[in-house]
Amino acid sequence: MPLKHSLTVRVGSKGAVMDSRFYFHIAALVSCVVFFAGCAREPAQVSYAKDVAPLLEKYCQSCHLPGQIGYDSSGFSVSDYDSLMKGTKYGPVVLAGDPLNSAMVMLIEGRVDSSIKMPHAGAPALSQQQIDTIRLWVEQGARNN
Ligand code: HEC
Repeated sequence: MPLKHSLTVRVGSKGAVMDSRFYFHIAALVSCVVFFAGCAREPAQVSYAKDVAPLLEKYCQSCHLPGQIGYDSSGFSVSDYDSLMKGTKYGPVVLAGDPLNSAMVMLIEGRVDSSIKMPHAGAPALSQQQIDTIRLWVEQGARNN
């Protein structure tokens, strides 16, 4: 009789352990769903002034201001929003809402021959996160925000 009793208790407590594991899995599943729902939400608005201009200043201005080699050979200046949107002497390199076909995004993502990847070989490169910031800004409409 005492033996049977203790057996029951053991089975019972094992069941409790399994229950709590089960609820843990449910909780993990729910938090995953919440997490991915969070990711699916519209990403934060990228700001030209706060996020993009500082990157262009740091990584592009050494060559893309009047008098510098990049500007002199392409006509592309990153001195301000208007010159950025004006593009090269051949036309725009930023197409609002269309990062895939924006020459500037192609160049910084390296979707071009490595000899013309921007910044040019030798100059400090953008990190993937910085490239993504510029891409997202173009995707969100390349606004002067
Ligand atoms: C070390 C100098 C240098 C740096 C830094 C540099 N560029 Fe350039 N860039 C050039 C030169 C030189 C050219 C023209 C010749 C060529 O296309 O390779 C050029 C051309 C370009 C063009 C025009 C390409 C075309 O279709 O004619 C774009 C757009 C451009 N650069 C964007 C950028 C961006 C954006 C950055 C910063 C992330 C950057 N560049 C940084 C030197 C530089």
